[in-house]
Amino acid sequence: MSRFVIGNWKMNLTLAEAVSLAHGSVKIAAKHSGTSIVIAPPLPFLISIREAMGIIPPNFYLASQVVSAQPEGAFTGDVAAKQLKGIVTHCLVGHSERRRYHSETGHSIGEQVKNLLAQGIVPIVCFGEMSQSTQKIFSSQITTDLGQDLYGLKVEEITRCLFAYEPLWAIGTGHAAAPGYVHKATVHMKQWFEKNYGDAPIVLYGGSVNEQNAGLLGSIKELDGLLVGGASLHAKQFGEICALFTPHV
Ligand code: PGA
Repeated sequence: MSRFVIGNWKMNLTLAEAVSLAHGSVKIAAKHSGTSIVIAPPLPFLISIREAMGIIPPNFYLASQVVSAQPEGAFTGDVAAKQLKGIVTHCLVGHSERRRYHSETGHSIGEQVKNLLAQGIVPIVCFGEMSQSTQKIFSSQITTDLGQDLYGLKVEEITRCLFAYEPLWAIGTGHAAAPGYVHKATVHMKQWFEKNYGDAPIVLYGGSVNEQNAGLLGSIKELDGLLVGGASLHAKQFGEICALFTPHV
């Protein structure tokens, strides 16, 4: 199975910088045909990037960072899943920054997932402990909380999502979770999914991934991918991460 490396550019870059980085990311995808490379640029740049890229390798995908929980209507500033259709193939959902700064909750996350799937867009559901107090002690409460986000979704909807485990204390801190911790968390999640939904989905890790830790994270055979923030903003660094996080054999 192909592994994923996803770049979340957050609210960074100018249009010119974003187009240039997209070209760099396409070249990285062409070099690593066994890995699925996904980039999530800022929303206003998606169409320009798509048009500028020309022919793209089959393992390269574009994602949105955001989608509305509503299907359409009077929601100023929001973007509907059906408006993203044809532009992106993937979309981040439930990122801790959306939960923290936009009060996104379990119900809204479930609605976003449903709207995306109805348009054939793959949700990348982000989750992880919001409290720093659990730092470095993996707690099964994390999957219990995830169950709230997924409440009301059908099993076949859940199994079409990708899941990114991102402990809050590791995001943007320069301190990624240790490989042993990521291993334990990944195995727990896969077992929890199998028990509750009959299938283990694709599970990614995110939080201060860089070229120093990507190789060790890559050695965790249960881990299917990485969600990279800051280090995805530099083509050289992102390329090194993709090279180190090699496909499953
Ligand atoms: P980071 O961000 O790699 O900069 O820690 C990861 C994320 O927020 O998805």
